[in-house]
Amino acid sequence: MAWQHISIAAFGGPEVLQLVTEDALPEPGPGEVRIKILAAGTGFTDTFIRMGRYPDFKGPLPFTPGYELVGVVDALGEGVSGLAPGTIVADLTVVGSYTQYALRPAASLIRVPEGIDPAEAVCLPLAYMTAYQMLTRAAGVSPGATILVIGASGSVGTAMLDLARAMGLSAIGTCSARNMALVESYGARAIDYNAGDFAAEVRRATGERGVDAAFDAIGGAHFKRSFAALAPGGVLVGYGSQTMATGGESLIAAGLGLARLKLWTLLSPLLGRRRALFYSITDRRKSHPADFTADMAILLDWLRQGRIHPVVADRLPLAAAADVHQRIAAGGLGGKIVLLPW
Ligand SMILES: NC(=O)c1ccc[n+]([C@@H]2O[C@H](COP(=O)([O-])OP(=O)(O)OC[C@H]3O[C@@H](n4cnc5c(N)ncnc54)[C@H](OP(=O)(O)O)[C@@H]3O)[C@@H](O)[C@H]2O)c1
Repeated sequence: MAWQHISIAAFGGPEVLQLVTEDALPEPGPGEVRIKILAAGTGFTDTFIRMGRYPDFKGPLPFTPGYELVGVVDALGEGVSGLAPGTIVADLTVVGSYTQYALRPAASLIRVPEGIDPAEAVCLPLAYMTAYQMLTRAAGVSPGATILVIGASGSVGTAMLDLARAMGLSAIGTCSARNMALVESYGARAIDYNAGDFAAEVRRATGERGVDAAFDAIGGAHFKRSFAALAPGGVLVGYGSQTMATGGESLIAAGLGLARLKLWTLLSPLLGRRRALFYSITDRRKSHPADFTADMAILLDWLRQGRIHPVVADRLPLAAAADVHQRIAAGGLGGKIVLLPW
């Protein structure tokens, strides 16, 4: 049976995303499941992978991009039990989701409860999970805490604002002027990061106290500014080096930013017990796989209950992948574009 997927044969611009047709369905090996994809998430990290700048994936080429999927179990490989064909599942794949069919290890699949829109569910494995684990497992924030979300208008940023609302946190978010209304729509205070020193603005907004936790994926020298916005005992969670990814900073500057996080934690007693750490969803899943499964179950339940509200900005076919990457680079989406392969 003929089926389609997006293939990248060489790292580069959006034009390297090519729709390819295959003749025969892939057969699951031992421990694997063939999934018929219902929804594939897209986002900034996919564009970073496409350009060959993502530290955790450098090939081999060709490959199918796509960090997250929701689909239906279609066929079981040898030795797989407890998963019936027809079960709806989700997974964080890093690559491999822009496709009509995918093979995945059975052990990595998360069950999706009945009655959930696959396009909304596919917003969870990367953006919501990153936001949720940073809030709970990395920073350990309590209800009533004040958080600073850098890049609050992006996928992870809006997920964090949505979760902050659900978890009883006060949020301050930095974004560009055009996105201030979006950030405020989550009940957060918006700060235009182009309008001056956001750390000073955060201190003013918190009566000079600062925030309990800050989340920053801009990276490099920017971590210093976020650290300056912390209250005594506060924590900075770094989770990216976006300025390096977009070519605005060197690898060395990004590395220095990461080294600073470690240094601040070493010097924490001298810095008002402020500390810093780095979060990576892929590292955390490898080291704590049971947490990933448990946290996805919580997020899927919150989605089912209407406690969180992922925004699907558009639903498009696989053939639109190159246009989608152009739109992600242009920014201002206000949500996730989801590919619907069928
Ligand atoms: N470590 C992990 O586990 C992990 C997991 C997921 C994502 N990430 C990383 O997190 C980053 C964000 O991902 P995403 O999917 O949320 O991307 P996204 O949707 O493209 O959002 C990025 C946001 O950054 C904002 N921004 C750009 N320059 C800024 C600046 N100087 N100050 C404040 N905000 C700025 C933009 O806001 P405006 O449009 O308002 O300017 C944009 O909304 C990426 O670097 C990604 O690789 C890391």
